[in-house]
Amino acid sequence: MKEAFRRIYGTYPVGVWAAPGRVNLIGEHTDYNDGFALPIAIPQHTLVAARHRQDGRLRLHSAQGGGPVVDLDLARLTPGAVTTWAAYPAGVVWALLEAGHRIGGADLHIDSTVPTGAGLSSSAALECAVAFAYNDLYGLGLSAPALALLAQRAENGFAGVPCGAMDQLASACCTDGAALHLDIRAGAHEQVPFAPQAQGMSLLVIDTRVKHDLGDGAYAALRSGCEQAARQLGLEALRDLAPADLPRAVKALPAHLVPLVRHAVTENGRVAEAVSHLRAGHVAALGPILTEGHASLRDDFKISCAESDLVVDTALAHGALGARMTGGGFGGSVIVLADEGRVEGVRLAVTAAFRAAGYQEPDIFPVSPAAGARRIA
Ligand code: GLA
Repeated sequence: MKEAFRRIYGTYPVGVWAAPGRVNLIGEHTDYNDGFALPIAIPQHTLVAARHRQDGRLRLHSAQGGGPVVDLDLARLTPGAVTTWAAYPAGVVWALLEAGHRIGGADLHIDSTVPTGAGLSSSAALECAVAFAYNDLYGLGLSAPALALLAQRAENGFAGVPCGAMDQLASACCTDGAALHLDIRAGAHEQVPFAPQAQGMSLLVIDTRVKHDLGDGAYAALRSGCEQAARQLGLEALRDLAPADLPRAVKALPAHLVPLVRHAVTENGRVAEAVSHLRAGHVAALGPILTEGHASLRDDFKISCAESDLVVDTALAHGALGARMTGGGFGGSVIVLADEGRVEGVRLAVTAAFRAAGYQEPDIFPVSPAAGARRIA
C-alpha cells in the first residue's frame, strides 16, 4: 500500500488503515426498525493509505476503480456532486465536516478484497476505513461506534442510500472470534464468542453473483413500509411491537404491511434465540434459526431470488445445518453453516445445481469472524 501510494502521489503515506466487510448471521432488515442484529466481520477488507493535505483538496485513488486520481475541493462537497465509488470516501469527509469536525484535505489510496455487489458490505468497509484514517490523521478522538454512525450518515446523506447502521457498526466494532450483538435503539453492542471451527463446523459464504444494488428503490420501499406500519400502530418503531401483540397488529394493518411487520417482529426474536444458543456454546443450534430467517425473508419480505433459494435448498438437502441469504437481499450472498465433513458435498452440489439451472458459477469460500476497522501500519 505504501509503495502504491508513493507511485501515485510521489510521497509516502502517514499510515495505512483497514476495515472489513461483514456477513450478518441473523437480524436482517431490523436495524432501521430500531431492532437487533448479529453480524460478524469477515477477513475480506478494504485498505486505505492516507496522508493529510494543507490545501483543502481531497484526492482519491482506487486500485479497483481503475481510473485516474479523483480530485475534489472540500469546500464544494455537496450531496449528489459525486456519483461514482468516490461518493463513499468523499461522503465520509462531508459527514465529518457537517458534524463540525475541524479537518483538512487528504490524499487517499484505496485497495480492497471485499467483492462489490455481493451483499458483503464493500461500501461500509470503504467508508469505515476512510473514517478511521481521518480520525487518526486529524486527531479527532472519535470512538468506533461514533465513526460507524458518521459512515452511515455518509451513505444516507451523501451517497443517497437509506441504509440502517448495521453494516458500518459491524465493520467498525466487530472483533476477531466473535459475533457482534447489536441493539440499535440502545446504541449498544456486545461481543458474543462465535467459533464454529472449534466445534468442527464451517461457515460458508456462497456469492450467487446476482448483483444486488441497495440504491435501486426496493430497499427504500421496504424501509418506508416498516416505518408506515409502526406509525399506524402508534409505535416509535417496529422494535416496540412484542410478539404477543402481533395478532392484534395484524388486524389493525392493511394487508400489504402485515408480512413486513411479521418479519421484523419474528426476526428480532431469532436474534435473541441465536445469542442465547451461542452464549451456551451451542453453535449447531444456530442452523434452524438461519433457515427460518431465510423463509421469513423469502415469504414475508419477498427479497430473496431464485438463485439464493436454490443455494439454501441445495445446501439443506446435502446436510447443511442451516442456510440463509444475508444482507439487503435481491441477490448477493448466502451463508451456510455445516459440519466440516459436509462442506465439500455442499460445495459440489451447489455448483452442480447452478450449472444445471444455467446460472453463473457461484463463488464459495469459508469465513471466520475477523477483526473490525483499525490502523495496520
Ligand atoms: C443492508 C443495509 C443494512 C441492513 C441490511 C438488511 O445491508 O445496508 O443497513 O438494513 O441491508 O439487514
